[in-house]
Amino acid sequence: MSSRKLVLAALAVFVLVLMTGVMVGQAQDDLTIGFAQVGSESGWRTSFTNAMMAEAEAQGITLLFSDGQQRQENQIAALRSFIAQGVDAIILAPVVETGWDEVLQEAQDESIPVLIIDRNVTADPSFYITRVASDFVHEGRVAAAWLVQATASRAECNIVELQGTVGSSAALDRQTGFNEVIALFPSLEIVASQSGDFTRTGGKEVMESFLNSIDPATICAVWAHNDDMLIGAIEAMKEQGIDPGDDILTISVDAIPDIFRAMADGDANATVELSPNMGVQAYQAIKDYLAGETLPPLISVPGGMYFPDTAEEEYAARSGS
Ligand code: AHR
Repeated sequence: MSSRKLVLAALAVFVLVLMTGVMVGQAQDDLTIGFAQVGSESGWRTSFTNAMMAEAEAQGITLLFSDGQQRQENQIAALRSFIAQGVDAIILAPVVETGWDEVLQEAQDESIPVLIIDRNVTADPSFYITRVASDFVHEGRVAAAWLVQATASRAECNIVELQGTVGSSAALDRQTGFNEVIALFPSLEIVASQSGDFTRTGGKEVMESFLNSIDPATICAVWAHNDDMLIGAIEAMKEQGIDPGDDILTISVDAIPDIFRAMADGDANATVELSPNMGVQAYQAIKDYLAGETLPPLISVPGGMYFPDTAEEEYAARSGS
């Protein structure tokens, strides 16, 4: 083929690509995104779902939502359904860390970008475009650091731990961060640890079993991987005549409205914030990726820490009351 014909052929391909809209780097309007959510196990999760939906609506994105009911097989089925529907992108909030490679490979085979949000996966990073999340290890460290200073005058502090969902990065990483810090302080020790699955009922049941098997007078603090489990534990303590927040110190993660109510009522001592507002970063990352931009492997969502002194105002602001 002559060089003139080659140029014409290349031009024809270029025009075809423009017409069919498959050129890499093309910005897209009218996005349809599949969102595979963990479930609705906690107050935080519900706020996160609502925030994702509200932001999608504000940006004119069609969001196909799936509630995985805390089961990985449901989430995998949701991903396969999104792939079959040919969505523009998928957002996966994984319930557990492992077991995603096969379905992520299927999405990649169909050139559907996947963004991981909140909890992490152990899959090869080439399977997803980025992760939007907070630093769970840091949350555990901050929680432990608070307890270290709150118990500085005590000779010892026996801690009972309410773990989140087994195999979830939120539970694994918070535990890692917390344990890393208390290992430096021999006066602090975890004397019992069990999963309450990030639910209020789970937290209550596990706390009841702790209180039945350990002399409550020897328990210094409850460390709960989320606020909902702590609220369940507060109920269990009260039912046994224990004064949570005084007799037994409390520390948890999320900063949901109900924990501010508990702090304002003197039943809880501190919470580490996990922001549910990750939609802005997630949707922007997908748009940037589709426009041909290179994304960082992690887009961090910051959070603060809250105490009883601001609980009343925070409760009013966050619960809308
Ligand atoms: O993955 C984040 C955790 O999941 C939240 O801390 C907890 O409330 C939720 O269930």
